[in-house]
Amino acid sequence: MGAIDWDRRLFDELIPLPDGTSYNAYLVRGSERTALIDSADPAKSEEILAQLDAVERLDVLVIQHVEQDHSGTLPAIVARYPDVRVVASPKAAPMIAHHLGLPEDRITTAEDGETLSLGDRTLEFVHAPWVHWPETMLTYLREEKILFTCDLFGSHLATSDLIAIDRPRVYESAKRYFAEIMMPFSSLIKGHLEKLAAYDVAMICPSHGPIYDDPDFIIDAYRHWVLDPPKNLVVLPYTSMHGSTRQMVDHLIERLAERGVRVEPFNMTVTDLGEYAVRLVDAATVVFATPTVLVGPHPNIVFAAYLTGALRPKLKHGAVIGSFGWAGKAAEQTQALCASLKVEWLDPVFTQGLPRRETFEALDALADEIAARHEGLT
Ligand code: FEO
Repeated sequence: MGAIDWDRRLFDELIPLPDGTSYNAYLVRGSERTALIDSADPAKSEEILAQLDAVERLDVLVIQHVEQDHSGTLPAIVARYPDVRVVASPKAAPMIAHHLGLPEDRITTAEDGETLSLGDRTLEFVHAPWVHWPETMLTYLREEKILFTCDLFGSHLATSDLIAIDRPRVYESAKRYFAEIMMPFSSLIKGHLEKLAAYDVAMICPSHGPIYDDPDFIIDAYRHWVLDPPKNLVVLPYTSMHGSTRQMVDHLIERLAERGVRVEPFNMTVTDLGEYAVRLVDAATVVFATPTVLVGPHPNIVFAAYLTGALRPKLKHGAVIGSFGWAGKAAEQTQALCASLKVEWLDPVFTQGLPRRETFEALDALADEIAARHEGLT
């Protein structure tokens, strides 16, 4: 059940959705009770309510995650089925009250590992905090070996394919989704993957994007994204106002390529943030390139640096290069904006106005240093 949002192009007023998205909900009919797992974004309430016209009695509504794209139709569902039991994790209960207006005493909380019988079918709740909020839980349908995972393993992909049959497309979409939503919680996801290894899973049903009838496809992908060492890749977010920084960027790209280092430059004036985020999953080094505006980095690079810090990728090294008109502290301020990164900062390279011979020599030295640090990376 749920809805495909073919036309949505932005999530959280931040994340580009080039392929739309879906809000999946799942109806589980047991011999004694019927449960709905998740609902849909409020913008799609009418669609899911129309689907529920075929469901005379709904006994249980499982809220795996309180973010509104999955829980937003809860008030309308509760209004239609006043006796429905709303089940959520203990952490979710007050959040449901705050975000959706349902009183806490209307919510039945489920502890980690607790089960709920629907008669001939059993739901087991598996707490999985921080994928994507602290209250999130997964649901395991024991008899069918189906794991419902809400945001975890999802993809922002509107498709008529119920099952992930177009694997290259789903892989790219799921990786982008991982980068944008899950990467900040990589260390916790590692624990969740270990916990889930104890479950016999025949099918994974996320609440965004298609279903996985081969769970190993997406579980193995997550293992790589979370556990693999970074690759021989530099991401280079940049902005240039009058061309000086652009000349430096072009020079550095050439010199890195000559040394066998892969580079992905991103012009932050026009770049798709999702494309930038997905390259951060694998990159070993980030180089910010910025002109100086007043005394600090250009606002595009302020945003890039803040975002990079917030996404907490596996980066090991960082550098800031750029230009200034008369003075400035763009390098220090850029580094401070992503202080949460565990990177070793290399010496910045800045020029007053146009880059000169010594600027290019300093960039050559930076390329040498990065290449040396990438030695052995694949
Ligand atoms: Fe798809 Fe965190 O909501």
